[in-house]
Amino acid sequence: MRIQALAREGGKLRFIDQTKLPLELEYREVGDYREIIEAIKELQIRGAPAIGIAAAYGLAVAVEQHGEFKFDHLRQVAQQFKEARPTAVNLAWAVDRVIRFVEGEQPTTFAAARDLLWAEAEAIHTQDRMMCAAIGRHGAELIGPKATILTHCNTGALATGGIGTALGIIYTCVDQGKKIRVYADETRPLLQGARLTAWELQQGGIDVTLITDSTAGMLMQQGKIDYVLVGADRIAKNGDVANKIGTYSLAVLAKAHGVPFYVAAPTSTFDPKIESGDEIPIEERSAMEVTDSFGRRTAPYDIAVYSPAFDITPAEYITAYITDQGVKEG
Ligand code: MRU
Repeated sequence: MRIQALAREGGKLRFIDQTKLPLELEYREVGDYREIIEAIKELQIRGAPAIGIAAAYGLAVAVEQHGEFKFDHLRQVAQQFKEARPTAVNLAWAVDRVIRFVEGEQPTTFAAARDLLWAEAEAIHTQDRMMCAAIGRHGAELIGPKATILTHCNTGALATGGIGTALGIIYTCVDQGKKIRVYADETRPLLQGARLTAWELQQGGIDVTLITDSTAGMLMQQGKIDYVLVGADRIAKNGDVANKIGTYSLAVLAKAHGVPFYVAAPTSTFDPKIESGDEIPIEERSAMEVTDSFGRRTAPYDIAVYSPAFDITPAEYITAYITDQGVKEG
């Protein structure tokens, strides 16, 4: 089964509510752009490419919902989408691309503007699907016929418009007949690895074993990991990578144990305006996600909590970047 996280449904956006996984596979159909913004903030829709695609569709939904086309209104909605989550550059990239496209086309009627917006959102979605497939092909060339891969967070069909980035490489290897075993980090605090990657790979018939985040080092020490494959939320000009919190620790461990550390991402994740990781804004999440995340309180009341959603892995730890354009050594 190949999952489709997002799709246009008439004048609405249809998406999987990822907060319900793995217990329920629930689709929502939303025709109010403000609910799409909320869904992005709450991580019902998540993963760098997926939030960009959702925002592009969200702009079309907003115009559809408004029933008329005014540029000021569109720009105002665009800004609200861009502010939903700060770290993944794909969000701003997709929104800016849609705005530039509509500005270039100068539609004069509501119907023309609406059709242009849907068309551009669908083009972004299709392009992402193709970029995922290309990443899969390029990445698979680096992976041997029998390999054990460690991955972090969720970088698959749930996180993108296609087969995924790091997980897309795994799917491609398996399709090519390679014997792949995956260790999925649970990915505290929101458990994207346990709830989403373990579920998604299991649905796809992939050999996957779930581990706690802190087990990764021991597996590398025991020589059980051949490659670490992760995605990215933003890549700076110098190659520094923002990705889910815990990625940096994995990169340091991989270097210490001589394990190749690959970052897979589409070109929309590279930010040409940012020199280094120091300039990447890191989203901080609510303390509740750490203190109450298992359906009950797991920390004392009034405890101070620090919960960055992402960290920066300096370029020196990255063996290679796998993009839709090919492989670039780190
Ligand atoms: O907070 P999330 O779940 O949106 O974080 C997602 C990640 O960190 C992914 O690794 C990244 O977006 C790449 S998805 C192809």
